[in-house]
Amino acid sequence: MTTALSPAPPTGPVPDATPAPGVDGPSLAAARPDRADLDPGHALGELARWRREDAAADRFPYRAVLGHYRAVGKNAVGEELLTALRAVEPHGPAGAVDPAAQLLADWLPQVVDGQQGDYDSYLGTPVYTSLTAAGAGPDQVITALLAEVVATEAAVLAGNPAGLPRTRAALRALAAAAGIPALIPGESEDLVAACAEAVAVARQAVPAGVLRAVELTLTPTTRGHDEQMFIRVIQIFEAVFAAVGRAVAGATEAVAAGRADLARDLLAEAVRQLAGTSGVFRVLTTMPKDAFAVIRANTDGRSAVQSRSYRGVERSCPTLHLALLESGLPQEELQPVMAELDEAWGAMKRTHWGITMKIIGSVPGTGGTAGAAYLREAAEARLFPALRRAQPAG
Ligand code: HEM
Repeated sequence: MTTALSPAPPTGPVPDATPAPGVDGPSLAAARPDRADLDPGHALGELARWRREDAAADRFPYRAVLGHYRAVGKNAVGEELLTALRAVEPHGPAGAVDPAAQLLADWLPQVVDGQQGDYDSYLGTPVYTSLTAAGAGPDQVITALLAEVVATEAAVLAGNPAGLPRTRAALRALAAAAGIPALIPGESEDLVAACAEAVAVARQAVPAGVLRAVELTLTPTTRGHDEQMFIRVIQIFEAVFAAVGRAVAGATEAVAAGRADLARDLLAEAVRQLAGTSGVFRVLTTMPKDAFAVIRANTDGRSAVQSRSYRGVERSCPTLHLALLESGLPQEELQPVMAELDEAWGAMKRTHWGITMKIIGSVPGTGGTAGAAYLREAAEARLFPALRRAQPAG
């Protein structure tokens, strides 16, 4: 019975309290989870079953573990599951090291790091290092990562049109990386169809092992949709940094062997890789400020300032220049492409600084630096400072 003091019970459909998945909201996995994925007992049960059977790496229950991680966010995963995962010892048949055991060994750091992880365990660096060692090219890895971004954005577009600019930017970047025609429809429905087609075509050109690695290396710390894009973008940049590092190392060897032509080709390829990052930055700039504030609060100590591949590029360029000076090769054979590389690297750093200003302003970074002020100064450092001085003015 209702009285004047007790309000009438609400009638009509129960309002859906869950915000729509997508930009500035939860991820699809968090907003519409499988019931089993919410329960850590499901992943624990699958792990226990796997151990009881044969604990073979190729039958590891990735799906159950990742399902839980993605539904609740890595920072909310409980100690019991973490402990069970920390006890996993990857082995192949009869204890031999095989690709499945290697993949599991490379992947585990990304899920056992809890809240004490670093940058490498955030993005799954060991998985990508092994992929490259096994012969995967940066273009394949980048294409697979961009295809993931496009598929993830397209999957939530219907319910959250705020994702339109990001989906368009991601589709454009995918088309450029995969070398497929870039027809970007304006209407949401057509865009979803164009995304599905581009993703299917792009994935066909990527080996299954690369697609599998990309599929496994997504363990966001939060339940937010935007962190998925952030992780994929970081993984793409890491692939670029690593490719540039290998090109510089290869060019140094080529110079020492008197092969200016080979060194030039390698450096030109590095410049091409860096040119591709502008389209990826356009995807990143769709990051809402408040969504990034949540990511920042959950990823303290995981800053890209720890990136070894980025640092490696900056450290190895002076060695290349020295090798060129000592080689006796005509300097002008390589100086133009070195200047292009310097410019492309600097442009990337300036863009990163600009995005940082836009998204967090001048607050300190998660890596313990002053933030934008540090980046601004770092963006002025040249890869080949001596080369710059040697160039004629103007
Ligand atoms: C929302 C976007 C981003 C913001 C606001 C941001 C912010 C920052 C800040 C404040 C720093 C200074 C170091 C620290 O204290 O943490 C930094 C460093 C760095 N960031 Fe980002 N970042 C963003 C995205 C990215 C992405 C996608 C990458 C790609 C890997 C990246 C790569 C780097 C690198 C390599 C450094 C070290 C720079 C150096 O030491 O010269 N950042 N970032």
